[in-house]
Amino acid sequence: MRLQAITLLQLFGLGLAQLEPNFTSSSGVSIFNPSSFFDPTGPWSLMSKAGDTLYIAGMRGIFPSNNTLAPVGLPRIRQAYQNMAALAELAGADLNACVRLVVYTTDMFRYRPICNQVQIELWGNDTNRYPPRTIIEVDRLNDDDIVEVEGTFYVPQKKDDDDDDDDDDDY
Ligand SMILES: *[C@@H]1O[C@H](CO)[C@@H](O)[C@H](O)[C@H]1NC(C)=O
Ligand SMILES: *[C@@H]1O[C@H](CO)[C@@H](O)[C@H](O)[C@H]1NC(C)=O
Ligand SMILES: *[C@@H]1O[C@H](CO)[C@@H](O)[C@H](O)[C@H]1NC(C)=O
Repeated sequence: MRLQAITLLQLFGLGLAQLEPNFTSSSGVSIFNPSSFFDPTGPWSLMSKAGDTLYIAGMRGIFPSNNTLAPVGLPRIRQAYQNMAALAELAGADLNACVRLVVYTTDMFRYRPICNQVQIELWGNDTNRYPPRTIIEVDRLNDDDIVEVEGTFYVPQKKDDDDDDDDDDDY
């Protein structure tokens, strides 16, 4: 039993080590800019966590591998959503843990259907599973981009998350 617990702790430890917050406020808000990701394009961060809630915003279709934009259209929009999904996974969530989406687009007529297509790809063709979404047409996005996505996720603390450095697992 104890051996198992230790193995689990080591696994969780490994997961957490990949996702050290860059900053944690005195009230417990953690800010993340994982090194495997593209650099934020300005004075903002990719992701934050407060309690059991994870916030990811400003996701555009940038390839994390080389900081360049995917081709306009489906590849760009798919990459934006995939970036959000990848960050959520790094934080221990998945797309079904998404509680809200906000999508900004510069052309509702042209790009909303592509957003819908990508959401069907990612969440599946099941009307019961999509998170609530607000989609808004805006005049302009950074880099004259076409779509920007943000998502809020529920990530309940795993029981062992707090045991990392730790007082209570020897009792
Ligand atoms: C944030 O932390 C990661 C390691 O977890 C580091 O690689 C990255 O450079 C940090 N970002 C900034 C802006 O300091
Ligand atoms: C950046 O990476 C993506 C996928 O990893 C690749 O398709 C694209 O060609 C790369 N772009 C440049 C400019 O290297
Ligand atoms: C989703 O399912 C419906 C029927 O349930 C079907 O009519 C539609 O073509 C499907 N869409 C995709 C993109 O697979």
